[in-house]
Formats: sequence, structure tokens, C-alpha cells
Amino acid sequence: MKKIVIAIDGYSSCGKSTLAKQLAKELDYIFVDSGAMYRAITLFFLRNNIDIQDVKAISAALNNITLTFKYNSLAGKSDIFLNEENVALQIREMRVNDHVSDVAALEAVRTFAVAQQQQMGQQKGIVMDGRDIGTTVFPDAELKIFVTADIDIRVQRRLLELREKNPSVTEAEVKQNLQWRDQIDSSREVSPLRQATDAIVLDNSKLTREEQLAIVLGWANDKINK
Ligand code: DC
Repeated sequence: MKKIVIAIDGYSSCGKSTLAKQLAKELDYIFVDSGAMYRAITLFFLRNNIDIQDVKAISAALNNITLTFKYNSLAGKSDIFLNEENVALQIREMRVNDHVSDVAALEAVRTFAVAQQQQMGQQKGIVMDGRDIGTTVFPDAELKIFVTADIDIRVQRRLLELREKNPSVTEAEVKQNLQWRDQIDSSREVSPLRQATDAIVLDNSKLTREEQLAIVLGWANDKINK
């Protein structure tokens, strides 16, 4: 059967990764959470006190980073490894949330990550979620989806996720972080978050995961059978 590339973009905490993961499972495709790559790079920068104004330090740091995804059968998803260390949990910490958009706005970082993402898509049969997948990483993707959801619903979703690890995190803190990240992601110079002109918009504010999956599977099958 024909394999396609599916690009899923949108604002923070819209459920892009959940959707991409479900879709990849149904289609038996590879799922790549591109945000995890920017998060792992941010973790490395934080641990090594890299000054993000220092172009030379950034390029030296990137030369010391190897990112890989390995399937975790217990969790039913791929974990990201930073130089052979599984950092799937550490990359979700608030300190990473607080810095990731600034790191992801750096040109050298984007060049580094995008090259690896494009390599992963060469054989097709991939669902990748992020901010610039349909515009920069895979401009020729057969199916592009731009996900949106109401800000308060997104805050509740993120809050649930963060409270599993840190019960003291507040709603106001989460809302501020989401709005701030959306602002930086949309206004940066290098591949800002944009809806590709040929993307289909999916507002999932009022959809269950199952309803959302059914809609998108329909779109994917249309493209596959075309
Ligand atoms: O999807 P996420 O929240 O895990 O993404 C973390 C950050 O990485 C987000 O603030 C923006 C950035 N990002 C990006 O710039 N480009 C991507 N393709 C994916 C994520």
C-alpha cells in the first residue's frame, strides 16, 4: 500500500502528539515527536550552562549531541535518548518548558534538528508533529493538519500532565507558559509556527480522542487511496 508523510502542526498542548501517536499506531507508521528533540537539546544546554547568545558555544554543544528515539514496549511509545541516556521524563520538566522556545528559535539548533527530521521521513510512512513540519520539514507532505483548541482547554490538558509529576503547579503558571511559548514560537524569525497554506484545520476543543482519530483517519485514507 502507498505510504505517505503526515505533518501535524499547531500551538502548544493542543494534543498534537496524542493524535500523531494514535494515527501512527493505526497506520503502522513511525511516529516522531519533533518537540522532544528541541526539549532534549534544551536539557543539554541547561545542564552544560550553554549561553544561548554565544554562537560558538552553541555550535560546539550541538557537535556533542546525539539524539535517538527507541521504542519502549512498556509505554507503547518511543523514548528520546540524549547521548544514550533516556531523558523522556526530564524533558517534560518545567525548567525545560521555560527555556525550550528560546532554544528552538536558534538558527543553528533548527538546522541541526530539521536535517535529522528530514532524514527520518525519507522512506515515508511517518507521522511527525511539531510547529514547522508542514512548512519547513516536509513541505511536500501528502497530508498536513493544523491543530487548534481553546486556550482554557489546553491549559487543563497540560495541567493534568504536569500535576502527575508536580502537584504544586498552578493553573496561572501553566497558562502563562503556554501563551508565552505560543508567542515566541509564532514570532521567531526562523521557521515560525504557521499554518501551511495547504493544511487542513482541526479544532479539537470539543472532540474526544476517538472522534478526532476517526476524522483524521478518514483524511489519511483518502490520501493513501488516491
Ligand atoms: O510540542 P512541544 O511542546 O513538546 O514543543 C516544545 C517546544 O519546541 C515548543 O515551544 C516549540 C518548539 N518546537 C519547534 O519550534 N518546532 C517543532 N517542530 C517542534 C517544537
